[in-house]
Amino acid sequence: MIRSVLLATATTLAVTMVAAVHGQTPQKTTNSAVYTAPQADRGKIVFGEKCGACHDPARFTGDAFFEAFDGKALKEVWDIASGTMPEDNPGSLKPQEYGDIIAYFLQLNAFPTGTTELPGEAGAMANIKIEKPMKSGAASPVAGVPAAGAKSVKAGVYTAAQADRGQALYRSKCASCHAPNRFTDDLFYTSFAGKPLWEMFDVISDTMPEDNPGSMKPGEYVDIMAYLLKVNSFPTGEMELPTGKDALSAILMEKPQR
Ligand code: HEC
Ligand code: HEC
Repeated sequence: MIRSVLLATATTLAVTMVAAVHGQTPQKTTNSAVYTAPQADRGKIVFGEKCGACHDPARFTGDAFFEAFDGKALKEVWDIASGTMPEDNPGSLKPQEYGDIIAYFLQLNAFPTGTTELPGEAGAMANIKIEKPMKSGAASPVAGVPAAGAKSVKAGVYTAAQADRGQALYRSKCASCHAPNRFTDDLFYTSFAGKPLWEMFDVISDTMPEDNPGSMKPGEYVDIMAYLLKVNSFPTGEMELPTGKDALSAILMEKPQR
């Protein structure tokens, strides 16, 4: 009798342990608001200090991120980050700092924020599945809110040739009223940082040049925007900055790091 009770207890224990080792099926997804905005901001700073020397944030944004991790538990990112990174000093950060960096990765991919922080802890990470942002491409863009899955202007969203065309247009159409440094000041970031590039397009194409609003072609306005990105030291890429509302809504304007 005692023996069988003990056995039963042992079996229950064993089952529990097996379940723990193999990891539960994730109960949440990255769309379940699993981190906070201030946490992601902290993570961004730590990333800049500890990871930025080797990694561009673009490495963890959009396709690059989803190709590696879509459908997997957040623990996969956690294991690599906390177990093997920074490559020159693995595991040297506090657990919560790794958690904050992963929150920053979620923010880069425009996942929704919530009111509870992402814990810097393997079990919590195992419980969250990475899935592409729910609204990706489907819902029409909401003014002022980056589309789900937005990529950053840091990801190389315009070409050098396009910025050169934009600079020539800028000289002839805008420079009479604006010095280029008007678009690297805090007023400019207050208006546009953290918002989809569509906002900037909307303002410029609706109201500028002030003496003849809307007089230029959409392609000319985006060329000028490419130039403004260059003035802000954002990297160039392979593809030109597009003109469409959906495409521009999917690119997030940011304040450059100096
Ligand atoms: C000394 C250089 C270096 C530093 C610093 C560094 N990494 Fe890495 N990291 C690498 C290399 C090299 C790879 C493998 C190549 C790759 O996937 O880009 C890698 C890969 C990764 C991967 C796997 C990417 C994938 O798609 O499989 C993650 C996640 C990662 N690093 C996160 C971090 C984090 C977080 C930090 C800061 C705490 C960091 N790394 C700091 C060099 C570095
Ligand atoms: C005739 C003068 C004039 C011309 C030409 C002109 N602007 Fe403006 N622009 C203004 C004024 C005035 C404002 C409002 C005050 C300000 O924000 O500097 C403004 C505001 C802006 C803003 C909003 C800035 C913010 O931080 O909210 C942007 C962006 C802008 N202009 C871009 C352009 C571009 C691009 C061109 C060329 C296609 C252009 N402007 C041509 C006079 C002009």
